[in-house]
Amino acid sequence: MNIAIMGAMPEEIAPLLEKVGAYKTEEFAGNKYYTATYAGHDLVIAYSKIGKVFSTLTATTMLQHFGAEVLLFSGVAGAINPNLKIGNLIAATKLAQHDLDITAFGHPYGFVPEGKVFVEADANLISKAKEVASQMGLELMEGIIATGDQFVADKARNEWIGKTFGADALEMEGASVACVCDAMNVPFFILRAISDAADMDASFSFDEFLESSAIESANFIIKMVEKLG
Ligand code: ADE
Repeated sequence: MNIAIMGAMPEEIAPLLEKVGAYKTEEFAGNKYYTATYAGHDLVIAYSKIGKVFSTLTATTMLQHFGAEVLLFSGVAGAINPNLKIGNLIAATKLAQHDLDITAFGHPYGFVPEGKVFVEADANLISKAKEVASQMGLELMEGIIATGDQFVADKARNEWIGKTFGADALEMEGASVACVCDAMNVPFFILRAISDAADMDASFSFDEFLESSAIESANFIIKMVEKLG
């Protein structure tokens, strides 16, 4: 299978590149794409840079230019659900854009005409992930992830996102990647390991735990690749 694995930051894909061994590098539209074979699959791996616009470009490139048939996202997130602690894993069941706002026209937050508030992740990939989690002896939370072009370091904003979208975690790329895959009918899976609590200490916590949490997520994603038929 031709599998795309993307992150947003170099730290999120470095552990993947270490695991796959030899890879080729190709530049396209201002980003580097790394191709390799692993566990009988063709992989294309890239980090997009932070945010919805760059992640849209990278996801689209992976599907359209590199022909990926499935997309796995590996990275870190801020927790909303207090049960999510640093290093814990969450798989998105569905994703929404928390900063998309045309409520002035009577629409709900996260909605634009002809779009939808939530994009659902692929159920088969989620059930594969559950198998991987039990084999690895890890807990995997399933939940709603909210995405926006904001690093959230504010308890009030965190709580608003949690209340408005029923979200368990927040980050800056998942929902845009989800929109691309949904539009192109490509199954996708968004995994995040918690790096911070999206509160006033978030930037310090993020800096401290980005690397270790990114490794947690990447290790899990590699095991998923090994499981994909
Ligand atoms: N990714 C990880 N932590 C985050 C936060 N607090 N806000 C937005 N994206 C994040």
